[in-house]
Amino acid sequence: MMDMNAPQLSLGVIGAGAMGTGIAQVAATGGINVVVYDTRPGAAAKACESIAARLSKRAAEGKMAAEDADAAAKRLRPASNLSDIAPCAIVIEAIVEDLTVKTELFSELEKLVAPDAILASNTSSLPIGAIAAGLQRKDRVAGLHFFNPVPVMKLVEIIRGPDTTDAVAQALFVLAGRLGRTPVLVKDTPGFLVNFGGRAINTEALALAHENVASPAEIDAVMRDCYGFRMGPFELMDLTGVDVNFPVTRFIYESFFDDPRLRSTPMHRYKLETGQLGRKTGRGFYSYAEGAEKPSADTRTAASPASAVFIHGERRGLDMLLAECAVQVLASDDGAAPILAAPLGEDASAYAARNGLDHRRLVCIDMISDTAKRVTLMTAPGAERGVLESVIAIFQEARAVTAIADSPGFIGQRVAAMVANLGCEMAQTGLASVEDIDLAMRLGLNYPKGPLELADAMGPAIVHQILTAVQALTGDDRYRPSQWLRRRAMLGLSARQA
Ligand code: NAI
Repeated sequence: MMDMNAPQLSLGVIGAGAMGTGIAQVAATGGINVVVYDTRPGAAAKACESIAARLSKRAAEGKMAAEDADAAAKRLRPASNLSDIAPCAIVIEAIVEDLTVKTELFSELEKLVAPDAILASNTSSLPIGAIAAGLQRKDRVAGLHFFNPVPVMKLVEIIRGPDTTDAVAQALFVLAGRLGRTPVLVKDTPGFLVNFGGRAINTEALALAHENVASPAEIDAVMRDCYGFRMGPFELMDLTGVDVNFPVTRFIYESFFDDPRLRSTPMHRYKLETGQLGRKTGRGFYSYAEGAEKPSADTRTAASPASAVFIHGERRGLDMLLAECAVQVLASDDGAAPILAAPLGEDASAYAARNGLDHRRLVCIDMISDTAKRVTLMTAPGAERGVLESVIAIFQEARAVTAIADSPGFIGQRVAAMVANLGCEMAQTGLASVEDIDLAMRLGLNYPKGPLELADAMGPAIVHQILTAVQALTGDDRYRPSQWLRRRAMLGLSARQA
């Protein structure tokens, strides 16, 4: 097998669409001679020209040296037929996502290239083992899953099929480095790592909206302000397009035999069926029509702040937050003041009933999610609106307030616990190493923290408690804690402890 760092390395890219063009660009920039092939007449030549244009634009903007852009463009060559790929030491396939078409291509390729050439697929959903199944030599086949747009997205998933050798996986690590990508090693399972891991935030956000707990704008705002996500889940679904994220969600759900953890809601499919795909159609979860204003995520009131409150149960920093707001905290319930509580995984109804509290005066606050920019408040059915407003008024001076309908785990606890739990499940099933799970989710989806880092930041025991409570109250196994999480929570260990 050729050294992937060899100066004369030549790489074939099959499929000159969005992904193939991006892969060819980073390979040429990495000093590799690239041959591009596409069955569409003229597509390969067009891809080479568009890469050359992109590179010279980067040079004009001072993002790369003009001679490097020139040299990279000269390393690109369109193939007039597939046999031009024959001398390549590695071939990366990025054609249509169809198993029959891909297997036909791979069996043609194996006849053309040298016996030790590597054959890699950029498939996002097909098993690498299935692509390799009918081949003479399955040991040299692997997945090399890039993200769109390739020149921007640093992550690449390396997927080993059942027969992929260590040497091939190792060579792909070296190649990834040369392409300026950060590789992670992932098991050959549906959705691989990032597309699987990304299901938690989207489906839980959809579940909250489905239950009328809060609006997409409110859910997005909580995930941005309290957890540091750059975009909320609905904003991101509108950006990628429901025509992309719904089929991926359905594929992964079905591939895992309807695991309720991965379940979406009817609204997701409805958006697809009605053509509300997101930004590309001018309407998705939000409207992008000219002059459309984003709905507010803030609940505001003209009421006066309560001058005194009673805190029931665990403080979780609530007393400090109230001190900052100059509110008196009563030593005992006076029967009139608002009762504030910071439940974990419980809704206001369950909390009031369990503790024998007056639910009309109970206002729950999420003290697990960061409260520096925004607080989430929640009340039970039958709660007095005036009491809630007097509590909103306490907080609204210094931070945004989102008042939601009753929900076990508010917005933030539920979504964050689901993200952390799916990360734990990835670790439990050996999908990738703990380090690679966090790295991949940060690089592939722009998460502020990887899911296991998030579990540690919240505390594994807290995450476990949230999920157990939500599971008990909803009766929904969607919230069942991963065994990886349970063990570490019980033993007081880090979620990253192997
Ligand atoms: P695309 O539709 O933009 O490009 C596919 C190209 O392959 C087309 O130019 C088509 O003419 C060509 N093609 C089709 N059959 C061929 C064959 N038998 N031989 C040679 N060329 C052939 O598709 P895109 O988006 O670039 O995706 C390509 C692959 O990458 C798919 O497997 C997809 O699942 C995967 N992928 C896509 C991502 C995305 O965000 N678009 C992200 C990661 C992976």
